Formats: sequence, structure tokens, C-alpha cells
Amino acid sequence: MERLKMENTNLEVSRLCAGCMGLGGGWGRDTVLTKELEAEAGMFIDAALGNGINFFDHADIYAFGRAEEVFGRILKQRPGLRDRIVIQSKCGIRWRDEAAGIPQRFDFSAEHILESVDAILTRLCTDRLDILLLHRPDVLWEGEEIARAFDTLKRAGKVRYFGVSNQNRHQMEYLQSFLTDPLVANQLEMNLLHHGFAEAAISFNQTASGYPDGWEGVVEYCRLHGVSMQAWSPLARGVLSGKPTAEQTPIVRDTAALVARMAQARGLPAEALVLAWLLRHPARIVPVLGTTKPERIKACSRAAEVKLSREEWYTLFATARGKAMP
Ligand SMILES: NC(=O)c1ccc[n+]([C@@H]2O[C@H](COP(=O)([O-])OP(=O)(O)OC[C@H]3O[C@@H](n4cnc5c(N)ncnc54)[C@H](OP(=O)(O)O)[C@@H]3O)[C@@H](O)[C@H]2O)c1
Repeated sequence: MERLKMENTNLEVSRLCAGCMGLGGGWGRDTVLTKELEAEAGMFIDAALGNGINFFDHADIYAFGRAEEVFGRILKQRPGLRDRIVIQSKCGIRWRDEAAGIPQRFDFSAEHILESVDAILTRLCTDRLDILLLHRPDVLWEGEEIARAFDTLKRAGKVRYFGVSNQNRHQMEYLQSFLTDPLVANQLEMNLLHHGFAEAAISFNQTASGYPDGWEGVVEYCRLHGVSMQAWSPLARGVLSGKPTAEQTPIVRDTAALVARMAQARGLPAEALVLAWLLRHPARIVPVLGTTKPERIKACSRAAEVKLSREEWYTLFATARGKAMP
């Protein structure tokens, strides 16, 4: 699989990233890490590596820390693996504390960022993260404080590069103004059904403009400043590639049918086509896969074989937006 040199870094990452949210047994708070979950994580890592993927995406909250913990067990068992892969994690979301009556919240305080990274490194059994992302904007954030935390982490060799997730153009610009190093990534939900990033490009000056607020200028900011755009939920959680859904709207049905036809014509799995739509974008969007199944990882990796024509790309887009271009 093709590798990308990430702008503003010395990192070479695969065109697809393996998201680790599905490791560690899911969202039950009391789930225990078993040998089976460990074996599953090992197979997931093997499938990623075997299909040319060297880039792994974590967050401290995934499976309440167990996703990182189980991944760390594999790293510990396999000396040398750490140096062959690029690991990214995120912090800044705090779960609710029912007993104390505290709701879920966001926390970009220096104290929380520093503590979170220490905990992430312990769980992952590594001494460094290649990339740290701030997971979801904290309303109460202070640029100076975040800059101080980033600086401390960089000097200690605990984090090499920093980025954000779910931030609009103004938030990136604001945060960047405090930082010495460039932000290297913004991870955002992008897929054929959640296509605000593409809608924003064509909706300006339209009477019936309908793109979701917040996308204005995001793509342009990222391209101008070398911020890698990473797509979370790139498969739209499977509903365009065979997963039955209760919300089978005409748009989902028509888009899934078109994806199936185009995939079949090329002799490729539907996943490859869904991802190829993101890969065709000139911002060099990096899809962050959510599947943990080796077979599906393989199907996804075949996206690298597809280069959609402009006409195919727009046909998919028009079908997914449910109306013609303006
Ligand atoms: N930054 C953020 O705020 C944020 C938010 C969410 C996620 N993320 C990251 O992005 C990654 C991907 O997110 P995602 O999981 O939502 O992405 P996704 O790749 O769109 O969806 C993957 C999910 O869909 C299921 N799926 C896919 N095709 C299927 C099919 N044909 N039939 C049945 N199930 C199917 C997968 O199940 P199987 O495992 O069974 O294949 C998996 O649960 C995560 O791992 C995480 O790293 C980031």
C-alpha cells in the first residue's frame, strides 16, 4: 500500500489508518481483558500489517482504556514492532462520574493533558506517542495552557507531533496561534453519507445552501497549512457496504446500490469503493478504519487499487446528497 509522508513531520504513514476503537471488548465498563481479546488484537494488528497498514489510531477512552491496554500487551510481546509502526492517540474527553454527579465533559487543561498522556503510555507499554490529538473541543480551553502542555510533552520525548479532532477552521487557527510547532492532523467524520466537507465547497452563494455549519474553510485551511485530514467512520459504519440498517432511507439505499454496482464492475468489495471516494479527494484524506475483522481490513485495503474518475466521483456524490449539483 502507498505510504504518505505526513506534512510537517518525519512520519511515513500508510494511505489507510487502522482505528482501534473496536479493540478491548467494547463499551462495557466492567469487561475484563481476556486471552481471547488479546488474540483478537494480535490478529487485528497482523491483518493491518499484512495489508500494508503501519498507522494505528487510539484514544484514551476507547473501551475505557482497554483498547490501548490490549494493544500494549501485543507491543510488549513483540519486540521491534513499536519501531515499525506509527501510533496516534487522543485525550480530552472525560466520562461522566455517576457517583459524584459529574456529567461527561471535555478537559484541555494542562494537568489533564499531561496526566492523560502518562496513562496512555503506560497502557500502550511504550515510551512515546508519534501523534497526540485533542479529541473534542473543550469550551473552557486556554491556548497558553495547551501550548505549555504540548511543550512539556515534546521536551520529555513523550509526544512527537500534535493535532486535533472535530475542530473547525477557527478553532485550529486559534490554537495554532499559541503553538511553536504546526498542528499535523485534524480527524473529522467524513464519508459518503456525512459529506459536509464536500458540500461546503459547492454551497457558497446558493439560495438554498444546506451544508452543515462549521465546515466552511476547513479543507482549505488544512491544505494550506499541511494539516492531514483524517476521516473517522469512513465506511459510514458499514451501511453502504452490506450492513443492514433500520434507517434505510432512499438515499442510503440508492447510494449502497450504486456502490455495489461500481464495485462489482471492478471485481472489488464494496468497502473499497466507499473508501476510494475519500481517497480521490486531493487533500489526501486518510480514512481511519473502524473494523477489527481481518477479512474486512483486507477488503478495505483494496481501495488503494481504485482511482475514481471525476465523473464517477460526482455520480457517487450526487447520489449520496440526493440531488444534483447546484
Ligand atoms: N475522532 C473521533 O471523534 C472519532 C469518533 C469515532 C471513531 N473514531 C476513530 O475512527 C475509527 C473508525 O470509526 P468507525 O468504527 O465509526 O468507522 P467505520 O469504519 O465507518 O465503521 C466500522 C464499524 O462498522 C462495522 N461494519 C463495517 N462494515 C460492516 C458490514 N458490512 N456489516 C456489518 N458491520 C460492518 C464494523 O464492524 P466489524 O468490526 O464487525 O467489521 C465496525 O463496527 C475508530 O476505530 C476510531 O479510531 C474517531
